[in-house]
Amino acid sequence: MTEKEINIRFREYSTIEELPEEDRELAHAAVEAMKGSYAPYSKFNVGAALRLSNGLIVKGANQENNAYPSGLCAERTAMFWAGANYPDEAMLSIAIAGGQGGQLEESPATPCGACRQVMAQYQMKSGRPMSVIMIGSRHIWKFDRVDDILPLIFDSI
Ligand code: THU
Repeated sequence: MTEKEINIRFREYSTIEELPEEDRELAHAAVEAMKGSYAPYSKFNVGAALRLSNGLIVKGANQENNAYPSGLCAERTAMFWAGANYPDEAMLSIAIAGGQGGQLEESPATPCGACRQVMAQYQMKSGRPMSVIMIGSRHIWKFDRVDDILPLIFDSI
């Protein structure tokens, strides 16, 4: 038996203003995207902003439904829209902002497992790393690639 360890490196910032310029723009867009959230059931409002390789920023927000599983997270509304409308552009970076009643917690809301798997797929499709920026009111975390938030990604098919 060999014991192994997986280490994940990421950067922590304390304000959006501290981020490099392109990330700052994307982070502001994610906060702005929270306005499009439709979350009458959970009241947890999430916005996502995605930067494409053509420079375009695509926004998404969570959309809930009376038949619960019919709703969708902010990240996937953004990624699926981009995938459908710009199939040849790589998704280079995604920023996520969310919180109960539209209020960010100090530490970021983190993407669910299903959204991570979808990020992984688009990263694989383009062959270029997708960075992930999670925004809290006091802590902002930046991961350089999806592998860092989904170790041992399923990519066997
Ligand atoms: N949600 C997102 O939109 N993104 C996440 O990363 C986590 C959760 C949504 C789904 C649901 O509408 C609400 O937040 C509560 O789970």
